[in-house]
Amino acid sequence: MKIETNHSQTISAVLGDITTLSVDAIVNAANNSLLGGGGVDGAIHRAAGPELLAECRTLNGCKTGEAKLTSGYHLPAKYVIHTVGPRYFGPEENKPQLLASCYRNSLRLASLHHIASIAFPSISTGVYHYPLTEAVPIAVREVLSGLEEYPDIKEVIFVCFNKEVLDCYEKELCKLK
Ligand code: AR6
Repeated sequence: MKIETNHSQTISAVLGDITTLSVDAIVNAANNSLLGGGGVDGAIHRAAGPELLAECRTLNGCKTGEAKLTSGYHLPAKYVIHTVGPRYFGPEENKPQLLASCYRNSLRLASLHHIASIAFPSISTGVYHYPLTEAVPIAVREVLSGLEEYPDIKEVIFVCFNKEVLDCYEKELCKLK
């Protein structure tokens, strides 16, 4: 499913593996160490190769809600934007704000690096247990406002790893039609 904003920017939801996408940047749902892990993080590191871990080692980690950019190395994507979502059962009280910050900071970094196309996984909804019903409205809302703020970003793709995730994004995007 694809929707278009007033400024000819598109937001779509697709089923697939984010590591295969030929976009300017893919977003990684990383952890505070930025040194790899399971889920989409593991898949991105495997596909990008050991050079990605070497660059990540120079970054001194990443705070929850913030974002850092690296090269994409062997990925089809030119860049990886690493962001760290909140753990749903973690101690922080401002989890929705932290999750929103992941999207906002990723888009801000994308704009700074003249990135026109960017793909997001469903941040925090795997190992970090954020319920899709709460995370997806935040993701869509923040991408919409980010696209207004950064008109040079032309394409945002929500990459859904399974049908359940895709259904949630499609339901949310339908509300914008
Ligand atoms: N492409 C797109 N989406 C994927 C892929 C893929 N190749 N693989 C998994 N997903 P998760 P989190 C989906 O657990 O909840 C790591 O160990 C997955 O189905 O990857 O933010 C990190 O190092 C789910 O919908 O990220 C952290 O420690 C979504 O991506 C921790 O997990 C996010 O699931 C971060 O947990």
